[in-house]
Amino acid sequence: MKVLRGRVLTFLDEPQGRDDTSSYRWIEDGAITVGSDGVIVSVEDFDTARTAGHEIIDHRPHLILPGFIDPHIHFPQMQVIGAYAGALLEWLNTYTFVEEQKFGNEAHATRIASRFFDELIRHGTTTAAAYCSVHPQSVDAFFSEAARRDMLMVGGKVMMDRNAPEALRDTPQSGYDDTRAGIAKWHGRGRAHYAITPRFAITSTHEQMAMAEALAREFPDVHIQTHVSENLAEIAFANELFPNYGDYVGIYERFHLLGPKTLLGHCIHLSHRETEVLADTRSVAVFCPTSNLFIGSGLFDYERLHGQGVRIATATDVGGGSSYSMLRTMDEGYKVMQLRGQRLTPLRSFYHLTLGNARAMSLDHRIGSLAPGMEADMVVLDAASTPQMRLRMETVDTLEQELFLLQTCGDDRAVVETYVKGQGLKSRLGA
Ligand code: GUN
Ligand code: ZN
Repeated sequence: MKVLRGRVLTFLDEPQGRDDTSSYRWIEDGAITVGSDGVIVSVEDFDTARTAGHEIIDHRPHLILPGFIDPHIHFPQMQVIGAYAGALLEWLNTYTFVEEQKFGNEAHATRIASRFFDELIRHGTTTAAAYCSVHPQSVDAFFSEAARRDMLMVGGKVMMDRNAPEALRDTPQSGYDDTRAGIAKWHGRGRAHYAITPRFAITSTHEQMAMAEALAREFPDVHIQTHVSENLAEIAFANELFPNYGDYVGIYERFHLLGPKTLLGHCIHLSHRETEVLADTRSVAVFCPTSNLFIGSGLFDYERLHGQGVRIATATDVGGGSSYSMLRTMDEGYKVMQLRGQRLTPLRSFYHLTLGNARAMSLDHRIGSLAPGMEADMVVLDAASTPQMRLRMETVDTLEQELFLLQTCGDDRAVVETYVKGQGLKSRLGA
């Protein structure tokens, strides 16, 4: 067995205030014992841990947390990040729909998949929900590479049969068949979870939405991921394409695509009714702050959605999003909320990155916290990872301050190590 020694932080519940000490477990000198099966055996004070005969990895003075979770990211958009565009539809048509065509080429998909998981590991992200391209081979490349690293990943091929270039369009039947085959091949194999992925209402015909509905009915334990209410022109176009559905959320509602395993990217401009429907169906609104700022989509209304009882996750949305770092993501999220006169406490931020996002993905029985029986996906963080952070750390004397410094100034340099099933993977990456 392996024992990781360090300053251990793991959440027990959503923090209710700035200093809600009941929401987390903190061990100043902790020991996390991991079995050879990659599952946590114990989490305790180092002094009381039985360490004889075990390999001890001493990460002091660094923090050890559950690995970060990114519930909305696009694997074929690695080479789209930072494309100079205006708003969403221009960005999609000019760059994204051109780039994603390359994933019909298996060699390209395989090369990018390898780089994708390198980047997640470099940034401390151990689980993600990813959109692949329309091509089934992009799904194979994605899950094959995840399996090679034994990472718990959710993903699926995008279903899209209109309003996109010919080379990126499937059909209602092929989208259904390819999704079904993807579920049969990957769902539940190792740590893989499939997600039924109609890209968004604009790129799916009524017939394709009905096929997505059929798949959701056939495979009720599979995730569903899509986009909703990101941009005003997008909303107007979706309502024009589906004129008798009341509103944008109403489209997904009528096709029975909402529910506790549905991850809805963006949710920025929702009406009161739409928000109520998300709360009632236990669907998840995914806040993607770097993307929302970069594409100029709008300011997510965290407090209104939270107040109405909507489940909220936080994610990068790379390549609309501009960073793989969940620390950068929460920093931008904090700033979006500041612009709305809302506050996100440091504890709440780190809850979202770990247990909160695990709960949003219905995976909290396996990941998102450090306790016996949980899978040993962890991140080791150094709040003094750059010269300016080291200097600032001289004046930091509480855990809350340290977390906030990590969020405000931290990036991949703050990630000392990323453990997947107890294996340190970041230190094995090349430069
Ligand atoms: N809506 C539909 N597709 C996409 C995408 O790839 N990125 C973003 N940000 N929004 C979308
Ligand atoms: Zn997206």
